[in-house]
Amino acid sequence: MGNWIRVCAADEIDEDDLIRFDHGSRTFCVYNTEKGFFATDGHCTHEEQHLEDGLVIGTVIECPLHQGRFDIPTGKALSAPVCVDLTTYATRIENGELYIDLG
Ligand code: FES
Repeated sequence: MGNWIRVCAADEIDEDDLIRFDHGSRTFCVYNTEKGFFATDGHCTHEEQHLEDGLVIGTVIECPLHQGRFDIPTGKALSAPVCVDLTTYATRIENGELYIDLG
């Protein structure tokens, strides 16, 4: 079933970039990568730094605070100091609008 929430028009996120998306008390990052659109929790799992100012490198997000890296599609923690994976969310595009599934 899912709980699909509209984020924005898909073309509002530049390629190789991300936006912050807040919904209720929750915060997310939504990415436009070379492999498509993805969504993760907004905060780094290391020290709760928001990833909105992080660097998108292909399908990797680098945290702006200590440069820990995560794989965007899977949320997997890739390099120290991060060791806990990010939660990821399914995305879909419908009529040019981007949605994420908050489950
Ligand atoms: S807060 Fe992200 S790597 Fe430390």
